Amino acid sequence: MPSFFFETFGCQMNVADSDALAAALLARGYAKTDRAASADLIVINTCSVRERAEQRALAHIAQHAAHKKQQRKSQQIWIMGCMAQRLGDKLRHDFPGVDRVIGARGFEKFVAEIDSVLRASCQAGQLEAAPGAVSVFVPVMRGCNNHCAYCVVPSVRGPEVSLPAAFIEDTVRSLVDKGAKEVTLLGQNVNSYCDGNTDFPALLRRIHALDGLHRIRFTTSHPKDCSEELIRAMATLPKMCKHLHLPVQSGSTRVLGLMNRKYTREQYLRLIDLIRKHIPDADITTDVMVGFPTETDDDFRETISLFTSVRFTTAFMFGYSRRDNTPAAQMGDDVPPKMKQERLRELIDLQTKITKEHYAAMEGKTVSVLFTARQEAGDRLWMGQDFGCKRVLAACNDSLAGMILPLRVLRSTGMTLLSERV
Ligand code: SAH
Ligand code: SF4
Ligand code: F3S
Repeated sequence: MPSFFFETFGCQMNVADSDALAAALLARGYAKTDRAASADLIVINTCSVRERAEQRALAHIAQHAAHKKQQRKSQQIWIMGCMAQRLGDKLRHDFPGVDRVIGARGFEKFVAEIDSVLRASCQAGQLEAAPGAVSVFVPVMRGCNNHCAYCVVPSVRGPEVSLPAAFIEDTVRSLVDKGAKEVTLLGQNVNSYCDGNTDFPALLRRIHALDGLHRIRFTTSHPKDCSEELIRAMATLPKMCKHLHLPVQSGSTRVLGLMNRKYTREQYLRLIDLIRKHIPDADITTDVMVGFPTETDDDFRETISLFTSVRFTTAFMFGYSRRDNTPAAQMGDDVPPKMKQERLRELIDLQTKITKEHYAAMEGKTVSVLFTARQEAGDRLWMGQDFGCKRVLAACNDSLAGMILPLRVLRSTGMTLLSERV
């Protein structure tokens, strides 16, 4: 039986694409392996969002290609995702061991036609697909129309296209039939979802009506499209998890303007108030970057003060990375690396303290947890998530996978809640 090995960089959209390709391979008699060296097929799913993300993927590709050349000439190496789209055949030129480059835009077509590229020795449909996952990412749209000045995504993933609501509904229904309890609807800016008839709150209501589904999440939300109607839908539909990922990017209205984010600091803060009014216990998380071109210390102080007042549950924090073919590439990259590092460190220290306080405040409370997997193979600890975004661990000898249980939080380790069954 031929085997495949996956390595996935980047966002949940890439995770969803990797899962889709893995499912297509499993259904055609391939077996999944954790050992790259002996795999018949290596797939590397790449991200272009920051320079470092590309460098890491390139280093891994170089390693796999070198191993193939020396020890396993029959091995196939495929590169997919955003860097595959951005660099295209240059990757095959730079790494002759690479057999296929599957750009993010051509991915769906590639999966639909996969039989034509697999070796004839693999017989289609030999194996039953593995039991489905408990929590699944479901892309509802592709691409992005926002053109934030720093961002490479619109140029690699192309313009926004929403999938038909009926198709999404069918996808979720079949996932639930295979055992899914939770879905996360994915888009670069899911709030702007519209297939012509159904907008995002309406899509949520349709998915919500599916029997057997217990939890619904979605990401990412752009603040400019986060309507009161959406917040009300989250507050009133009982399967909607109480978590909003709402990237702020900067606390300075001046910098937000240069970034082309289309909201001010004050509008963002009002939106947070509105969310807390309707969903007082919501986990609100964010993405932010420091060192965008022209960012002054005063601008950065505004980011610090916004973080102090919003008190996000967690945040992804980045130093600005200049990307070719983005509007900001023309602005220069004038914040020195050392200053970016210092600002990032200060922000991370502040947010880490706030995150720990949020987690510590959960001690003694009862939370509802969906368990997905063991922390490590053979381990007694099971991993899950509460109804917001917090990670929960509980010890149990028997399988908890797929169970939704009330748990009492014993203590917080800072980023994880240790709990016991009630
Ligand atoms: N579509 C999502 C996220 C896209 S990329 C959104 O609109 O929020 C994920 C995060 O990477 C972004 O939110 C941003 O914080 C960060 N990012 C994107 N481009 C970047 C760049 N050039 N340098 C540093 N961080 C970047
Ligand atoms: Fe990039 Fe902005 Fe689109 Fe997010 S909304 S993918 S940050 S352009
Ligand atoms: Fe990266 Fe592409 Fe996602 S650039 S963040 S993998 S959309």
